[in-house]
Amino acid sequence: MVAFSLQRALLLAGALARLGAAQEAEPTILAEDGSVLVADETTVAPAAEVFSDLDTDEEQVAILTDAVVANLTALDLTNIDLFTFDEDVTGVNTTLRKRSGPAYRVGDCKVFPGDRDWPSRLTWNVFNLLTGGALIETVPIGAVCYPNSGVYNAQKCQNVLNNWSQSSLHASDPTSVMSPLYQGETCMPQNGQSGSCTLGSFPSYSVKISNVFQIQLAVNFARNKGIRLVVHNTGHDFLGKSTGAGALSIWTHHLKDIKYYSSYRTASYNGPAIKLGAGVQVGELYAAANRYGVTAVGGECAGVGVAGGYLAGGGHSPLSSKYGLGSDQVLSIDVVLPNGRFVTATETKNTDLFWALRGGGGGTFGVVTSVTVKVYPKMKFSGFTLDLVTGADTNNTEQIFWDAMYAYWRKFPSYSAEGVYGYSMVFPRFDGVAGYTWSVRPFMFPGKTLAQSKALIEPLLHEWRTLGLDFTPQWFEHDNFYDTWTQHFPAESVANSNMRTSSRMFPGEVWWNVTKRDAMFDTVKQIVKEGSALIQYNMNPAQRNAPASGANSHWRSAQWFAIMGAGWAPNSSEADLETTNRRITDDWNSRMRVFGPGGYGNEGDVMEPNFGNAFFGTNYPRLLQIKRQVDPNDLFWAPTAVGSERWKVQGQRDWLTLQTGKLCKVAN
Ligand SMILES: Cc1cc2nc3c(=O)[nH]c(=O)nc-3n(C[C@H](O)[C@H](O)[C@H](O)COP(=O)(O)OP(=O)(O)OC[C@H]3O[C@@H](n4cnc5c(N)ncnc54)[C@H](O)[C@@H]3O)c2cc1C
Ligand SMILES: *[C@@H]1O[C@H](CO)[C@@H](O)[C@H](O)[C@H]1NC(C)=O
Ligand SMILES: *[C@@H]1O[C@H](CO)[C@@H](O)[C@H](O)[C@H]1NC(C)=O
Ligand SMILES: *[C@@H]1O[C@H](CO)[C@@H](O)[C@H](O)[C@H]1NC(C)=O
Ligand SMILES: *[C@@H]1O[C@H](CO)[C@@H](O)[C@H](O)[C@H]1NC(C)=O
Ligand SMILES: *[C@@H]1O[C@H](CO)[C@@H](O)[C@H](O)[C@H]1NC(C)=O
Ligand SMILES: *[C@@H]1O[C@H](CO)[C@@H](O)[C@H](O)[C@H]1NC(C)=O
Repeated sequence: MVAFSLQRALLLAGALARLGAAQEAEPTILAEDGSVLVADETTVAPAAEVFSDLDTDEEQVAILTDAVVANLTALDLTNIDLFTFDEDVTGVNTTLRKRSGPAYRVGDCKVFPGDRDWPSRLTWNVFNLLTGGALIETVPIGAVCYPNSGVYNAQKCQNVLNNWSQSSLHASDPTSVMSPLYQGETCMPQNGQSGSCTLGSFPSYSVKISNVFQIQLAVNFARNKGIRLVVHNTGHDFLGKSTGAGALSIWTHHLKDIKYYSSYRTASYNGPAIKLGAGVQVGELYAAANRYGVTAVGGECAGVGVAGGYLAGGGHSPLSSKYGLGSDQVLSIDVVLPNGRFVTATETKNTDLFWALRGGGGGTFGVVTSVTVKVYPKMKFSGFTLDLVTGADTNNTEQIFWDAMYAYWRKFPSYSAEGVYGYSMVFPRFDGVAGYTWSVRPFMFPGKTLAQSKALIEPLLHEWRTLGLDFTPQWFEHDNFYDTWTQHFPAESVANSNMRTSSRMFPGEVWWNVTKRDAMFDTVKQIVKEGSALIQYNMNPAQRNAPASGANSHWRSAQWFAIMGAGWAPNSSEADLETTNRRITDDWNSRMRVFGPGGYGNEGDVMEPNFGNAFFGTNYPRLLQIKRQVDPNDLFWAPTAVGSERWKVQGQRDWLTLQTGKLCKVAN
């Protein structure tokens, strides 16, 4: 375990003191007769006006409005001025007192627990009341394993340990993240008996969102008080973007509404669509689409949040060679802006925002509450899966394996042109024997019959047989996506600590120059031989007539998306850690960047130099401009997000940024 010099040593026992248990003054509010009452859930209702949804006329959306704030202001609720809206960039006049929050200068930090300006318990109480009791004080998921934590529970600890690699365990916790590295690994369940449990980068509080007004309150409060704000959905993020020390976290996981439209009309679209709440996960979207008899574009793993980080980052899909990125399917987005206002962005309304929210990155422009996406008719899916092992105890020598891999790689552009999704992983063998395992899950063609897929694949299989590759493909054909996905994709496994990923998108133009192409193959092969895993995708998310959006422009020419990465022993020395981490960014990633300048911000290297170009391509300057307009004071911040250059997490090593320190402004 690594020791972090500036690691906050906030004792859990202190953090667990019950909300409102402190002996401070209680908040007050005026009664109608002018007498002063204690403000509590019997005297203060949740701060919302309820409207019926404009699209559906059924669902109710509860919104924080000027009228609600004006009422509470007139009743002199303690600290109500901390919840007012900002100067309105969308043009809605507000007659209320404006507090845009602190004006940060270089050197200033977001307010941190222990600072003079950190909200008092009384203030947190008022916030909790206004949200209808949705505030949660953070208890790290591993705390139940620590005898001194105050919440020790041997059975619950065992459950956490047993389910650690399952995303549902983490997604159902308000603050747990699936890349514990960035959290600081300060309360890992397996260290419970001997270690201490501290918050590390876990936020101080989160709000369990069930309706829009709670997000608006959190946004206004964090902005007006200068508190770091984090948006947290499932916690899948690979770069530490859904956690942050000393933050208030907006937890969107329970926004689960799904609504199907057989015919949804916009200026440029008329067809089936699905509206999904920000908390809907890939598996839930796929199951719903299957029920409605359509095909939805989503990611590969069941637990990923569709309308959260996935669509915000562009989102690649088993259907990407056919229909483009996940974000290309979006028709409408509902979002709470940094000024606290709730707006809808479409191709005709708030068009800059609409452009930026489709691919411009999570936790940057506001909090998305729901999106409406195009869906497609049911279609056939066919292809094969394959599990193959190399090594002295098999017929597959290393030479045969790499020759077969090169034969496959050479064909990538021709497969993409047919709509391919080729997803496979190369790992060193797990049983200690020298060699690789290669797991292809799956190699398939959406919309094609098995006979058509076989005809496309046979020339490659012929080459493989000629090379002497020993392999047995498992063919499949289904008349819908759901059966294909549930039966032929790998099970999701998460929360592996002590590892880091990076990624590259290799563009089609490299294949035109055979010298360069072969040098690219040699480079990737060499990096795998040096110890990297390779998670590779053959796809080209370049749907013809793809709508203009903020999504990484490098995606459009990509033929090969490769995730590389390495782990280290839990007891590695600081020097070994530095060597491994520097190798990923400075060595492996640099060598691959020569061929693939783009990387995927959702599955990328948190230390990516010049991440603006790598993660957003030619769209970066316009994204930055929109960020400045919508969020001039950087209420939203996440590592490698648009505009994140202006801030830095303190106390970090220059080869790895965790989220364990204060967030401070470093440039204008
Ligand atoms: C096992 C696994 C499989 C994956 N498979 C795929 C795949 O097939 N295709 C693919 O493209 N990616 C894939 N990813 C990457 C995935 O897209 C990202 O991790 C994504 O950011 C997850 O989003 P989330 O909302 O679930 O996670 P979180 O970690 O909760 O959030 C991720 C980011 O989005 C922001 N965010 C979340 N919700 C909102 C919101 N409502 N409004 C604004 N910002 C928000 C957060 O602040 C954070 O910056 C995979 C990741 C894992 C771990
Ligand atoms: C404001 O207060 C008045 C008087 O109590 C009440 O009738 C009205 O519904 C309130 N409006 C909102 C938006 O809460
Ligand atoms: C707009 O706000 C100002 C105060 O900021 C107020 O004087 C004015 O009356 C408001 N206009 C409207 C139309 O509400
Ligand atoms: C985790 O594993 C245990 C078995 O130890 C099981 O009973 C439980 O349902 C699982 N899920 C959670 C969320 O704990
Ligand atoms: C190698 O190939 C031969 C001939 O096909 C086969 O009989 C044998 O079982 C294979 N060996 C292994 C270890 O798979
Ligand atoms: C092909 O790539 C090689 C190596 O990158 C380069 O030297 C050469 O100029 C390229 N050839 C053409 C025709 O672009
Ligand atoms: C780390 O642990 C492994 C096995 O637990 C051990 O073999 C190795 O020597 C240890 N390394 C260090 C640097 O302590």
